[in-house]
Amino acid sequence: MTMTVARAQKQEMMKNTNPEIEFKIDSLLQLMTVEEKVGQMNQYNGFWDVTGPAPEGGSAEKKYEHLRKGWVGSMLSVRGVKQVRAVQKIAVEETRLGIPLIIGFDVIHGYKTLSPIPLAEAASWDLEAIKNSASVAAAEASASGINWTFGPMMDISRDPRWGRVMEGAGEDAFLGSRIAEARVHGFQGDDLSAVHTVAACAKHFAAYGFSESGKEYNTVDIGASTLHNVVLPPFKAAVNAGVRTVMNSFNELNGVPVTGSSYLQRDILKGEWGFDGFVVSDWASINEMINWGHARDKREAAQKAVTAGSDMDMEGNVYIEALAQLVKDGVVEESLLDDAVRRILRVKYELGLFDDPYKYCDEAREKETIGNAKHHEAVLDMAKKSIVLLKNDTNLLPLKKEGQKIALIGALASDKSSPLGSWRIASDDDTAVSVLEGMQNYSGNSLTYAKGADVFVGQAQFIQEVVVNDADKSGFEEAISVAKNADVVVMVLGEQGFQTGEGRSRTNLQLPGVQQELLEAVFKVNPNVVLVLNNGRPLAISWADAHIPAIVEAWQLGTETGNAVAQVLYGDYNPSGKLPMTFPRNVGQVPIYYNFKNTGRPDDKDGNVFWSHFIDVEKTPLYPFGHGLSYSTFEYSDLKMDGTSFETGADIVVSVQVQNTSPVDGKEVVQLYIRDLVGSITRPVKELKGFELVELKAGETKSIRFKLNNESLGYYNNDGKFIVEPGDFKVFVGGSSITRLESDFELK
Ligand code: NOJ
Repeated sequence: MTMTVARAQKQEMMKNTNPEIEFKIDSLLQLMTVEEKVGQMNQYNGFWDVTGPAPEGGSAEKKYEHLRKGWVGSMLSVRGVKQVRAVQKIAVEETRLGIPLIIGFDVIHGYKTLSPIPLAEAASWDLEAIKNSASVAAAEASASGINWTFGPMMDISRDPRWGRVMEGAGEDAFLGSRIAEARVHGFQGDDLSAVHTVAACAKHFAAYGFSESGKEYNTVDIGASTLHNVVLPPFKAAVNAGVRTVMNSFNELNGVPVTGSSYLQRDILKGEWGFDGFVVSDWASINEMINWGHARDKREAAQKAVTAGSDMDMEGNVYIEALAQLVKDGVVEESLLDDAVRRILRVKYELGLFDDPYKYCDEAREKETIGNAKHHEAVLDMAKKSIVLLKNDTNLLPLKKEGQKIALIGALASDKSSPLGSWRIASDDDTAVSVLEGMQNYSGNSLTYAKGADVFVGQAQFIQEVVVNDADKSGFEEAISVAKNADVVVMVLGEQGFQTGEGRSRTNLQLPGVQQELLEAVFKVNPNVVLVLNNGRPLAISWADAHIPAIVEAWQLGTETGNAVAQVLYGDYNPSGKLPMTFPRNVGQVPIYYNFKNTGRPDDKDGNVFWSHFIDVEKTPLYPFGHGLSYSTFEYSDLKMDGTSFETGADIVVSVQVQNTSPVDGKEVVQLYIRDLVGSITRPVKELKGFELVELKAGETKSIRFKLNNESLGYYNNDGKFIVEPGDFKVFVGGSSITRLESDFELK
């Protein structure tokens, strides 16, 4: 059951590492005691900014004592040059070997200046902008002493009940992989040792997004096909992009808590993919193997986790308590520790921490970098690109700039904290530009604001449940009278920023509290409603779709929310976002996603009930993956391929004409999907294999070309082997996953 030295060595041989660094690590390892090695594998939380339940025996005195002994390799949630310098000084100046700490932090969508939540950014399909957003986050975090972010999160999820969908890139492995690469490049830049870059962390490895019923921290039971084709590709893409760390996750996968999964961490990640960075556990996820019933006690949990390839223990106190003894007792081979420590030291060397442990601790840089004007510009740009126009039936949008009476309704419209979203521990409350403030910048209309109803009661906080207002309707009357007198009503409704994120699963995907009632009451007196949604997950808004003429998905867009929303509503920015996740008609359809399997009975052939459907709701989604409108209109034609039959391995060129048929310049995300008609493992009805964000002037036509190759046409079989099977394929190109423009080809 113990991992053999030979296997650990084999993994070592697969790396492509810097010999100078490896030599230094060899020398250092020789000097280290077993306790010091374990120390490098031990990570403590700082003394504030708690992001998980408190572990036993984690007192501040003990942490300081361990720091001084060299028994701490990393700290998380320590921030600010002053604080980081203080703990680094202890590690460097007071310990026997002076090994610097690596300082981790959840930089999820910005540090102080906040970008849209990651799911919103994914809706831009704009890889350059996403990369830039990560580099802005890296610049601010690194100026604050941090050198390692716990991001990007790349858990594919098909379940909007799961609160953490706000942290990811949505439901699709192809889009998720491209975004994972962009974010890794954005955080790490071209040079990890540069002072404005940080090490990235691909999380959560793996399959956390498939938690049963979307319930947080739950069981995951999925088959090999979903694991290899849906869950793992973004992680593999991140490893290929050079991500330096990986975080495992809280879930079990098919009966094995992943923190103890050798299959995932040793065989796939470090073995097959040759990952030579290190794996950090999630917050006390090693201990949690005891609750899962996979380890008897901390000692067994430590032994299982280290054997399985978890290199660093986040705030669990398990390695520090048990690992040295396990080595002394001969239960764990010291070579396993050497492998883990080598990986951790490697990243520290690459960051340049050994050359200058205080390189991220420059007060002057901290002052001039954090919150600077350029960062505000960048997050505003990202915010506009993240907005998705879901519906605009009567061309109510864009709003006219003059002579209109506009009513703005909804507590979220004036909220300056909620738009910052979840996971924003370094930012300050009340720092977002609210929608009200953004709209006030347009002075040609008269603007009247009424709250209507609170979304929540009391204080909303990162670590507490948000209490929904499902009773107080005292503001309805005012809202109704304001709406009656308006030409257009803009209603900002949705979720409070802390109703999504970790620990925020929901069983109901409707507008929380009394907001649906408010929407209906206002609509009754004035049907010219523009609904602006603020939310961190797909919502089930069937009533709104059936009645409200214009719907804008504005997520939680970060610091510049109000400016971005106002510029889109007034047409100063033409929206081009596309949904990265399917919107269901109701929660009972979940999980619902575009790349489903056809089933044996896909259609209603005989007019009876014996086909794959629901009897109480259509089986199609409310808004499909890839959907998003613009103030321009686009037409697709002339889908062509350079042949009808191709040899396996050939590059296949697909081209299409896209025309902007409107008088307005705009951007369109041109999407290419394939369908492999027959497979030894059944294939989805559509699979995204390419996309391009294209700018088209009014009336302009462009020819867009895509290339398909083996990588696009193959898939992983149930042994995790990538195969390409000859046969018939379809290719589809269009502006969403339900595009019907298609062509066929054969792969020989
Ligand atoms: C638990 C979360 O699952 C993880 O994503 C985060 O990085 C850690 N806590 C640290 O805050």
